[in-house]
Amino acid sequence: TGCFTYDPGFTSTASCESKITYIDGDEGVLLHRGYAIEDLAEKCDFLEVAYLLMNGELPSQDEKAKFEHDITYHTMVHEQMAHFFRGFRRDAHPMAIMCGVVGAMSAFYHDSTDIEDPRQRMIASYRLIAKMPTIAAMAYKYSVGQPFMYPKNKLSYAQNFLQMTFGVPAEDYVDNPVLSEAMDKIFILHADHEQNASTSTVRLAGSSGANPFACIAAGIASLWGPSHGGANEAVLKMLAEIGDKKHIPEFVKRAKDKNDPFRLMGFGHRVYKNYDPRAKVMQATCREVLSELGIKDDPLLDIAMELEKIALEDEYFIEKKLYPNVDFYSGIILKAMGFPTSMFTVLFAVARTTGWVAQWKEMIEDPVQKIGRPRQLYTGHQARKFVPLNKR
Ligand code: CMC
Repeated sequence: TGCFTYDPGFTSTASCESKITYIDGDEGVLLHRGYAIEDLAEKCDFLEVAYLLMNGELPSQDEKAKFEHDITYHTMVHEQMAHFFRGFRRDAHPMAIMCGVVGAMSAFYHDSTDIEDPRQRMIASYRLIAKMPTIAAMAYKYSVGQPFMYPKNKLSYAQNFLQMTFGVPAEDYVDNPVLSEAMDKIFILHADHEQNASTSTVRLAGSSGANPFACIAAGIASLWGPSHGGANEAVLKMLAEIGDKKHIPEFVKRAKDKNDPFRLMGFGHRVYKNYDPRAKVMQATCREVLSELGIKDDPLLDIAMELEKIALEDEYFIEKKLYPNVDFYSGIILKAMGFPTSMFTVLFAVARTTGWVAQWKEMIEDPVQKIGRPRQLYTGHQARKFVPLNKR
């Protein structure tokens, strides 16, 4: 009963009004608060973009300095958090650890449940942006059996993350500006993307008034899947499976086969029906990083470039408007920088936390928002007579 629009996957339902991110999928345009992603990736650092997403304007120099101070003030995690890590199997997937540990933060910051208080909302947002790199690096350190590293607040957001990930107490990580700038750019490119699955999950969880740390944990769970943030990990697995350029046509054929569940990972997008603008920046960054590291002939990059070329000329991909998305090149860069494949989606989560927080805050501050509660088309049994157990 009732009259509802049936829209599986919400392909044509707007769930909210938002002023944060604009995408023109046909033209391949992505704007944050009106600014082109290409400009932001080229001319800003990650915390400036985080400020922009949260506050609606780029910061002045003073505002930027204050914001950096406010964020770095919160970069450490409670010492007790280390116990949470120790409860996980050594070979746990770091995304599983992220879901658990970020969810557990709601127990450390119970005051954040008072979401009506703007000060609590602000502190929760700062804590999340500040602590995600620390927690992500801890997840990595745990998996390789090295001691957790404390944050260093004099470093930039990206440098600090690389130091906590690759530094050890015996030896600091030596910053390579090409790599830390690439890391920063990767964070910017992943910072927000309007109402994608994980952001919608954060909004939906948050719409009931739940603790924001728990809401972000829900977002991390949603991001994990291979159709969403897990695609960067899946791309590398696919490139390794293809193994050689000569096998590409075979995989392209499989991707086109309706009876084969295989898809070209890193291709296609719900909104972009053109080249994903983030993929373009990512491709250029990929070249910079490989050249800096002296990697001349990366076999995976060769396969990726050839695969892209073949797919972009293929009737099926042209007709369905399937172009490379942000995940297509990011994995190659991250692998070259020394991250294991299992960390790729974790890095996405670190960056997307700013978007999640900005969108969560916008939702809480929107007087029109109600609890998110989709309806359904019931297709089950009509009411029927109950049969006792001994008669079944
Ligand atoms: N390879 C082969 N065929 C594809 C692909 C692909 N990667 N993507 C879509 N198609 C086909 C699909 O089979 C369908 O064909 P038909 O109309 O004949 O049934 C048509 O294109 C439309 O696809 P859809 O699944 O209905 O579209 P969607 O908007 O529901 O899905 C997507 C979008 C991103 C989940 C999908 O393109 C996909 O699975 N891509 C591979 C995974 C991936 O790279 N995900 C990362 C997305 S970008 C970053 C992020 O969001 O985290």
